[in-house]
Amino acid sequence: MGRRILLSPPDVGPRERDRLLAAFDSGWIAPVGPDLDAFEVELAAATGRGHAVALSSGTAALHLALHVLGVGPGDDVLVPTLTFAATANAVTYVGARPVFLDVEVDDWTLDPELVADHLAARARDGERLPAAIIPVDLYGHCADYSRLAEIAGRYDVPVISDAAEALGASRGGQPAGSFGVMAACSFNGNKTITTSGGGALVTDDGELAAHVRKLATQAREPVLHYEHREVGFNYRLSNLLAALGRGQLEGLDAKVARRRELNAAYRAALADLPGVTFPTAAPDSDPSWWLTCLTVDPEVAGADRDELIAALDAADIEARPVWKPMHLQPVFSGLPTVGGEVAAAAFAHGVCLPSGSSLTAAEQERVVTVLSYELG
Ligand SMILES: Cc1ncc(COP(=O)(O)O)c(C=O)c1O
Repeated sequence: MGRRILLSPPDVGPRERDRLLAAFDSGWIAPVGPDLDAFEVELAAATGRGHAVALSSGTAALHLALHVLGVGPGDDVLVPTLTFAATANAVTYVGARPVFLDVEVDDWTLDPELVADHLAARARDGERLPAAIIPVDLYGHCADYSRLAEIAGRYDVPVISDAAEALGASRGGQPAGSFGVMAACSFNGNKTITTSGGGALVTDDGELAAHVRKLATQAREPVLHYEHREVGFNYRLSNLLAALGRGQLEGLDAKVARRRELNAAYRAALADLPGVTFPTAAPDSDPSWWLTCLTVDPEVAGADRDELIAALDAADIEARPVWKPMHLQPVFSGLPTVGGEVAAAAFAHGVCLPSGSSLTAAEQERVVTVLSYELG
């Protein structure tokens, strides 16, 4: 039958291997070095930003973004409830409280109208405004940043973009990572490009970037001895992994093109089946389709979410439910939530399909055959 088909495995080859070994041979085996510097320049260009700071994870990028903005105890941060836990976790790291808002029906990104109503209600009632908003570019769809920026701008609330899942996507012609005062990128092993583990904070603000870089290296002051005026973190990416990242970044366009092709092929094969729905992109959005997901209505389709995942697993194919919303997570129970029904339905009925850029046409055909049989 062939190898097990994975959801989104790393897509690496000789280019990455050569760069990694060259970095090894250069002696820069440390969280400092020429590949790290070059990776930051190349990443800033890919995200349309002035500056990039390469970090050990996307979660570290979210943490430092909140930290440098001074978000802390007593503050609320607005987060879409449909996301990976890292977005909400980072809010708790600085002692702030996540407030969960529902997402749009079409592309599952933060619903700007809920944000507008929420901020208006707080302002009207004389309540403290949130310290930040973190829209998430879910599954490779950029959130509606032009609308969100307009709403947040009215109240002077900073926007931090969680672009961990969306490198290579764009909205309104602007690349993922270019939105908000800062954006977080992830190069975890399952992402569109990977450094095995890693991330970055990107921004146009040179002072913020310099501060984040300093905080990520134990907040060491630029003097000969070890001088510290603030508490720092050990969050810098290794030069070796940056070399791997440079090789990956060179292939970014091709990898995104392949994920888009896979999405189009899944739709062509499955979208007309009864009870099957795919998320749709807004007219100004060009998603990277990091993961292609579909939802099944078990009343109409021949199977429900778990039956589909089990059938795929029996055929040695990995599939996963859509993220379980944060307001339904035991660890975040009791936190304020606005809506949540759209996210809950996406979780109840949504399946993420194998979407890796190394997936072959024959492998995708295997996935489609199982799904067509189950849903037929
Ligand atoms: C939406 C989202 N935010 C943040 C992260 C965190 O990135 P990392 O795994 O690099 O810490 C991820 C993925 O892992 C993610 O999917």
